[in-house]
Amino acid sequence: MSKIHAVITGVGGYVPEYVLDNHELSTMMDTSDEWITTRVGIKERRILKEPNTGTSYMAVKAAEGLFAKTGTKPEDIDLILVGTTTPDYIFPSCASIIADKLGIKNALAFDLQAACSGFIVALTNAASFIETGRYKKVLVFGAEKMSSITNYDDRTTAPLFGDGAGVVLLEPTTEELGVMDSLLSTDGSGSKHLMLKAGGSAYPASLETIQKHEHTIYQEGQYVFKHAVTNMAGVSGDIMDKNNLKSEDINWLIPHQANLRIIDAVVSRTGVPYERVIINIEKYGNTSAATIPICIWEAEKKFKKGDNIILTAFGAGFTWGAVWLKWGY
Ligand code: UT7
Repeated sequence: MSKIHAVITGVGGYVPEYVLDNHELSTMMDTSDEWITTRVGIKERRILKEPNTGTSYMAVKAAEGLFAKTGTKPEDIDLILVGTTTPDYIFPSCASIIADKLGIKNALAFDLQAACSGFIVALTNAASFIETGRYKKVLVFGAEKMSSITNYDDRTTAPLFGDGAGVVLLEPTTEELGVMDSLLSTDGSGSKHLMLKAGGSAYPASLETIQKHEHTIYQEGQYVFKHAVTNMAGVSGDIMDKNNLKSEDINWLIPHQANLRIIDAVVSRTGVPYERVIINIEKYGNTSAATIPICIWEAEKKFKKGDNIILTAFGAGFTWGAVWLKWGY
């Protein structure tokens, strides 16, 4: 019997309407369009302004778009995996909320927390579920409301992050298409350099944690930068070497969008020419687990059946990895 692969058969995405550009940010804190553009490559980011809405709001809109495009019905879905660091609540899972809002009744649904690597970790997990033969239609989300954990008094982190959601539909195939290989890693010694310090079980919310801004992102930028460059560039090269893929074999490289200078390092390690690298950081900033599926959503029309695509990400944990995909349609 031929091997079952998990292939992407549809995509959806959503970004909020509100555009927070560098000029508006410069009126809120001591920063400038010039600094943000040259150091990071971001011009603007989207912010979810609708009151009392969380990550699930954007994820549901992304999935509704996917359903409309592919003709998928809620009752077809048997598994939902959500890569997110900003679920609507600590519990229940964002996946449960999304399932309910989409009218999906009979699916297993849960969240995966691997920070900015959340989508590639969720995709790899989803592929394993499909390869068992038991799951047939899986929604894999990367979705984040980063503005809910961003301190807009901190110029070292506030310009970096934005909100958005992307989703792919994954299905079984016996063709040589879909998720071909993944390399995923974690180094927990990196945890203290990029974290949200309070609100979990170690430091539950208190007046003190709120006064100390410990419910928003803490990042040691240069330390994280160094590890992001080494690990994302390294793992992208490793997955190509392991599978005998040369730069000319790669049709598209889709790196996590945290900093254009980190993307440059990945591009130079892989040798993939710039015109085959999907980059949208200037429009959306770092939407954490959502960057890669939003890139896939925006670039979908460029892809052809059989295209070799490398996805790569790095995030808090530290977590990082790469996925080699063959595009399915
Ligand atoms: O997505 C998950 C993982 N996250 C990442 O991959 C992010 C990795 N880190 C980075 O991308 C970069 O380290 C940052 C974009 C966060 C910072 O860039 P940098 O080139 O590492 O800047 P820096 O932290 O070394 O700061 C350089 C200078 C400092 O001033 P002094 O000490 O040289 O006078 C900062 O105070 O830039 C200053 N600075 C700013 N100036 C204007 C920091 N933020 C700003 C700002 N506007 N927004």
